[in-house]
Amino acid sequence: MWDISDKYTVSEAPAGRAERLALDETRFRACFRAFFYGELLPRVYGGQSAPLDEAREWLALWRERGLSEGDHDVRFARCLVQAIEDESAASPLDSVYLAAYRREKPEITPEDREVVLRVIHDRRSVRAFHDRDIPDALLARILAAGQHAAHVNNLQSIRYIVVNETHEPWVFRGVDIPPAHQHIAVLQDDRCYQGGGEKNLMDRIVDAGAATECMLLAMHAYGVDGAWLTYNDEEQFPRLRARFDLPDYMRIVDLIDLGYGSQTPFPPQRPDVAERVIVRV
Ligand SMILES: Cc1cc2nc3c(=O)[nH]c(=O)nc-3n(C[C@H](O)[C@H](O)[C@H](O)COP(=O)(O)O)c2cc1C
Repeated sequence: MWDISDKYTVSEAPAGRAERLALDETRFRACFRAFFYGELLPRVYGGQSAPLDEAREWLALWRERGLSEGDHDVRFARCLVQAIEDESAASPLDSVYLAAYRREKPEITPEDREVVLRVIHDRRSVRAFHDRDIPDALLARILAAGQHAAHVNNLQSIRYIVVNETHEPWVFRGVDIPPAHQHIAVLQDDRCYQGGGEKNLMDRIVDAGAATECMLLAMHAYGVDGAWLTYNDEEQFPRLRARFDLPDYMRIVDLIDLGYGSQTPFPPQRPDVAERVIVRV
């Protein structure tokens, strides 16, 4: 049986100062994110005491490595630490240091709700396309939707290969349907997970799936059609790896074919939700 641990290896986050300083930059950033988003933030939200010394240590290491102080992650991390240290606030979440990040819950009108549900319910896999390009600005919004998916520890491991069939004919071939007009391969930078232990083996596959589904929904909202495709790791993946010169740590996980559809598929039927709820207490 295919076992996920055959494909990925587990590596623990380095604990010592010297080891952390010696990490390559991508892994260092990954460990930094895993700490601030995976450990510190949930404690702050949960009203538990936060490991402040470790937080300060990560910030010091960031500076020592000469990484940009303007980076959005470190700016947020510094505000978070200042908020925890802020004795004038009833809780870190009330601190003035987090004021810039505080958001009112956005209002969603009944009409908005209907549109969101319509996009979810009416999205269909489309498998035949016109030879018409998706405008670059629209493509960028679709890719951005992938980055807004939920993501373990906000590691932001997702990378993309975006290909127009006209420029690279047949490089994406590999599944049961002819290549679409455009393609997105959803990749992951494996180094982002090398600080999270064993549970990240599963989380990483789920992260790619979440990004892929968000893109499919954004595509549908913008009138772009497409299908999530299965992979062929005997021919197609090695071909893509070679053509785009992917380093070992860059994994191809999901594939999307997209374009302006030339067919309107029948909707595959879904069972009634009541049949699928196994437990309800
Ligand atoms: C992981 C995954 C792999 C898929 N692979 C293929 C594929 O190789 N070829 C294809 O035509 N459709 C593929 N699909 C699309 C499904 O067949 C489709 O989502 C399903 O039949 C439901 O139809 P709908 O997307 O129109 O709701 C895939 C979907 C997923 C989530």
